[in-house]
Amino acid sequence: MKDRMLIRPMTEGDVGAAYSIASDAFAEDREEVRRRSPEEVAHRQERYRHFLRTDPGGAWIAADGENVVGVAIALRREEVWILSLFALDAAYRGRGIGGDLLRHALDYGEGCKGGIIASSTHPAAMRSYALAGFTLLPTLTAKGVVDRRSLPERLAVREGEESDLEFAADVDRRLRGAAHGPDLSFILSSGARLLISERPSGRGYAVAWEGSPWVVAATAEEVAADLLWACLASAPGLEARSEVNWLTGDQGWAVRVALEAGLSLEVAGPICVKGKLGPLAPYLPSGPFL
Ligand SMILES: CC(C)(COP(=O)(O)OP(=O)(O)OC[C@H]1O[C@@H](n2cnc3c(N)ncnc32)[C@H](O)[C@@H]1OP(=O)(O)O)[C@@H](O)C(=O)NCCC(=O)NCCS
Repeated sequence: MKDRMLIRPMTEGDVGAAYSIASDAFAEDREEVRRRSPEEVAHRQERYRHFLRTDPGGAWIAADGENVVGVAIALRREEVWILSLFALDAAYRGRGIGGDLLRHALDYGEGCKGGIIASSTHPAAMRSYALAGFTLLPTLTAKGVVDRRSLPERLAVREGEESDLEFAADVDRRLRGAAHGPDLSFILSSGARLLISERPSGRGYAVAWEGSPWVVAATAEEVAADLLWACLASAPGLEARSEVNWLTGDQGWAVRVALEAGLSLEVAGPICVKGKLGPLAPYLPSGPFL
């Protein structure tokens, strides 16, 4: 089967197939995919188009003839390489095709000073990243409906605006070693909220989406904690479920907030790091944008 396989650059025409492969690979079940609104499906696909515009050299497809069977999308932000998506059709896994795709995605990061991946718990993924020289940092994820009674009455957080993007870029450079560049504007264009906190003890920003944080980055834990509370407070209704993902061992501040808010902890995939990055704490990355 591997003889028929072609690894080639991804194009706009592959976006629908990449979405299907990613949905099959990562959705909890088929019901989760069916429940997605047309807007959510469009936004997920628009994300791949965004990466094709910003990083055409980082997006790769595995094809069996005309049939798209795998996808890897990598980004470069300043001197940091990021793996945003890596998935194969289940029928094609375990035959070395993912390894070939990953090599192309990794080559795109040549010359970068650091790299970061939010990994699934799939054994082939964790093995591939560890063998590619990444250090695997185990994580927890916190999920559930926020107990509104736990929300602090006052938070030193304000709504952000376009003019705060440079402030966020500066915080990102300190925390992860690279700004999010065009990604923050893209995330905010989907209706996510930018939150800002500036205090004598530190400063930071968060991106909140319907009661969950997409990114939290700050120079002090108490600032990060306020930003996370503000994300949780933004849940659209009393029954809305929140998720706080990628809680490495350095994010005890966020575990405390999540538990106080009444969320439950589960074990999740590792954050994989390599080379020179920022301290990544206090920091909660976004899966696709890190
Ligand atoms: C992760 C994924 C893309 C890897 O692609 P793949 O074609 O299955 O991987 P490969 O066959 O190239 O195997 C990669 C390595 O893992 C090993 N491996 C493959 N399947 C494995 C399994 N089920 N258990 C343990 N190791 C496995 C291979 O032996 C290989 O190791 P080697 O390089 O030392 O020989 C694919 O399995 C997948 O889509 N998984 C579900 C989605 C996912 O979790 N993606 C990762 C997101 S971070």
